[in-house]
Amino acid sequence: MSAECDQPIYMATVSAPTNIACIKYWGKASIEYNTPINSSVSVTLDQSDLCAMTTASASLSYTEDKLWLNGIEETPNKRFYACLNQIRAMAGDKVDPTSGKVIVSSEQWKQMKVHVSSYNTFPTAAGLASSAAGYAALVSAFKELFHAKESFPGEFTTIARQGSGSACRSLYGGFVAWRKGSSENGWKNSLAEQVCDEKHWPEIRALILVVSDQKKTTSSTTGMSNSVSTSKLLQHRAEHIVDGRMSEIEKAFHDKDFPTFAKLTMADSNQFHATCLDTYPPIFYMNDVSKQIIHLIHCYNEYSGGIRAGYTFDAGPNAVIYTLEKYSLEVAALMLYWFPSKDMKEYLTCSSNKDIFKKLESFSLDPELLKATEAIWSLTHEQNQTHVKHVYFTRSGPGPLVLGEEKALIDTKTGNNSYHR
Ligand code: DP6
Repeated sequence: MSAECDQPIYMATVSAPTNIACIKYWGKASIEYNTPINSSVSVTLDQSDLCAMTTASASLSYTEDKLWLNGIEETPNKRFYACLNQIRAMAGDKVDPTSGKVIVSSEQWKQMKVHVSSYNTFPTAAGLASSAAGYAALVSAFKELFHAKESFPGEFTTIARQGSGSACRSLYGGFVAWRKGSSENGWKNSLAEQVCDEKHWPEIRALILVVSDQKKTTSSTTGMSNSVSTSKLLQHRAEHIVDGRMSEIEKAFHDKDFPTFAKLTMADSNQFHATCLDTYPPIFYMNDVSKQIIHLIHCYNEYSGGIRAGYTFDAGPNAVIYTLEKYSLEVAALMLYWFPSKDMKEYLTCSSNKDIFKKLESFSLDPELLKATEAIWSLTHEQNQTHVKHVYFTRSGPGPLVLGEEKALIDTKTGNNSYHR
């Protein structure tokens, strides 16, 4: 049993979303500031399906900074301290709302050590942007705890990107761009901006097929460093392709033009994986199941006579398929037909639609569509059973949310981790 702290413990608990890029960030311009060679843009996903939960606490009783990830104690790293130190430098006074008295001054925060506990509601480091949600939650929890204020819009995103580049886009909901910025003035303009909020295009759906829940073999940081030093295709992409795609996809999102949005998303995923193959030695993030999913989506679009679904893959084999609400049952039914599971309740997560199991059960796929997709298939249903581990049927959602004390992951008396898997 740990002893109770004799000094007050201050804490803040938040949840933060993950995001999936449509135009990918791949390659760093500055390793020190963690800035990208090209701009990127992503959809922030609904936190009721996937999120990182984090409690940050501070107390004069703490003797060292401590961090627990998914219930296990870890040593805080450089990225953690980049976030902690910069947000603490922006701290404000904690004031009693009734008396107006200062409880903790901005200076006093600096004398306190911190204890942080965080967990993900989805597989860590499997190409599902867990670091994006994790660092967005860390920055948001510190911001809340220290009553920090931005000196310019987007300043918090410049700190989150130093935790993990893609994390800066998780500080906002909806459709979010990370502008690459420039080196003068310490890269302060390499920041995230909301293009459209989550209410702008509520019909957008994302189906995530978790093909592997294992840690990826080449981390994004190592992978992109090798790509920057060896891939000429990556250089060409950053200099000549991405800016045009950014303008086109932002316009498509504003105009709710799904075919353009999905086509650019697929093209950019394919080009990102082409730069991985162009890296020396090459990096393979997609596997044969990922490729089957790609064929399946192209076949489905061809059968539909238009673009109804678009896939994208990050640094791992898992697929994210964007579609619209009106096609989403058909797309999900098609995926579940080819990647079935005996236990649907365990297999499929869809917090926003409780009737999903009934709806999918009663949905009948057009035999013509099944015939068309069969042609690209060499596997039987039995063989496919184990290829997809889990399916998330989700949508776009808001940025980080501040939660009540009842959700805290740190014990309010001892200051120790209280989250256990
Ligand atoms: C393929 O943000 O994980 O998901 O900045 O080194 O932490 P670091 O990289 P990270 O890279 C994400 C790469 C990507 C594309 C994207 O999200 O834009």
